[in-house]
Amino acid sequence: MPELQRLRADHAPALLAFERENRAWFARTISDRGDAYFAEFPARHQALLTYQDEGTDHFHVLVADDGTTILGRFNLMDIEDGEAELGFRMAESATGQGLATQAAHAVCHLAATDYALTSLRAQANLDNLASHTVLTRAGFTVTGETVLRNGTAGRRYVKELAGGAAGATGL
Ligand SMILES: CC(C)(COP(=O)(O)OP(=O)(O)OC[C@H]1O[C@@H](n2cnc3c(N)ncnc32)[C@H](O)[C@@H]1OP(=O)(O)O)[C@@H](O)C(=O)NCCC(=O)NCCS
Repeated sequence: MPELQRLRADHAPALLAFERENRAWFARTISDRGDAYFAEFPARHQALLTYQDEGTDHFHVLVADDGTTILGRFNLMDIEDGEAELGFRMAESATGQGLATQAAHAVCHLAATDYALTSLRAQANLDNLASHTVLTRAGFTVTGETVLRNGTAGRRYVKELAGGAAGATGL
């Protein structure tokens, strides 16, 4: 069963492969990261680990049964006053199996327990039906509409978190 793991330095090669192999897939629904992201990947990876150490973000990768291949990313970003923004993306080859929904549940549990967060926000393009399904199934509710960073219309979500037992990372 795939495992949700907190981002580490040694995830870098598999994470770069995940982003490269799925670049065109992601660009169909969310903003492309641009060529600079790939050229500067090692420095950016180190920067994410620094943010994580500083407690402003908690990054996670969904690792396949082979222990190496990355199937998805589930990130808690811009943490402030107990609130964070949830962002996620799955490898095209791993979609349609309910894995994003399960991982979203798991990262919400981590947010409430290990990270002691009280509320999560999320947003998705109005046309991104798979993302709306994942967020709704993970317990998010719609709070309104917004304009996303790429200029398209989006829907905003929130999920209030209740504290619980720490330590669960399996799906
Ligand atoms: C959104 C995303 C994470 C969903 O991943 P996933 O693992 O396929 O999600 P799940 O299988 O848990 O659930 C998705 C549900 O949406 C449904 N769905 C997928 N595409 C759909 C579409 N075009 N119209 C309606 N429903 C759709 C699936 O059938 C599934 O429902 P089901 O279980 O009843 O079949 C994945 O498609 C992805 O990474 N897309 C590119 C990046 C992205 O959009 N990220 C989110 C940004 S907000």
